[in-house]
Amino acid sequence: MAIETIIFPDAEQAAQQVAKKIQQLIQRKPDAVLGLATGGTPLLLYRELIRMHAEEGLSFAQVRTFNLDEYEGLPPDHPESYWSFMQRNLFDHIDISPGNYHLPSGMLAADAVTEHCEAYENAIRAAGGIDFQILGIGRNGHIGFNEPGSTISSRTRRVTLCEVTRADAAPAFGSIEQVPTHAISMGCATILEAQEIVLLAFGEHKAEIVAQAVCGEVSENVTASYLQTHQHIHFYLDSAAARDLRDSM
Ligand code: F6R
Repeated sequence: MAIETIIFPDAEQAAQQVAKKIQQLIQRKPDAVLGLATGGTPLLLYRELIRMHAEEGLSFAQVRTFNLDEYEGLPPDHPESYWSFMQRNLFDHIDISPGNYHLPSGMLAADAVTEHCEAYENAIRAAGGIDFQILGIGRNGHIGFNEPGSTISSRTRRVTLCEVTRADAAPAFGSIEQVPTHAISMGCATILEAQEIVLLAFGEHKAEIVAQAVCGEVSENVTASYLQTHQHIHFYLDSAAARDLRDSM
C-alpha cells in the first residue's frame, strides 16, 4: 500500500481538513476512539476542534482518547508533561469526560512499567481499538516516541529518547539536561492497528524525513516508513514539508 499524500498551501488548511474528518467521524460514531499526539504539529488541529465545539456544537461527551506517549519522571501537573499539554491545548476547552481520556503514566516505579504498558494496550483493545490516529513525525522519523531501531511489532513500552529528540524538546524545557531521557510510548504495532491514520507534518525542517517515510524503504531506521504497510494512511502536509516529495515522485 502506498501512503496518500495531500499537500495544502499552509498548515491551517491542512488542520481544518483533518478536523472536518474527525467531526464527521464523531457525527457518525459519537463514542469514537481517537489516538492523539502532542508537540507543535497538532496545535492548529486542536484549536479547530475547540472552535467546532464552541461554534458548531461538536460534542466530545462520549469520545474516548488515547495519547501516544508521556515523558518519564514528569508528574501530570508539570508544565511540560503531555498530560498538562493535553489539558491546556484541548481537554480544558471541550466537553470530554475526564474518565474518557488516557495517557501513559510517566511516574511509574521500575517494577510497575510492564504491567502499566500491558494495561494501556488492554484499555485500547477494550475500547474497541483506535478509530482515528493523529501522528506527527520527528526529524529522525519517529512516530510516537518510537525512535530509530524500534521494530514494527513493538508495543507500548519504556523507551530511551534519542539526542535529536531531546535537542528538539530542549527549548521548551530550558536546556537539554532538563529533558527526560526516557518515556513511555505506544508501540509501532499499536499505532498500525488504528483503523485510519493521519500524519501531519509542517515546515521545511520536516521535508527530508517526510520524503524518506513516504518514498524510502520500509526500515527501522525511519519508523514512520512502517506506515507504508497500512491500508488507510494519509499524510497531510503543507507545501514546505512536501518539498522533497515533489522532487522524488
Ligand atoms: C508527540 C509524539 C511525537 C511528535 C513528533 C513531532 O506525542 O509522539 O512523535 O509528534 O516529535 O513533534 P512536533 O510536532 O513538535 O514537531
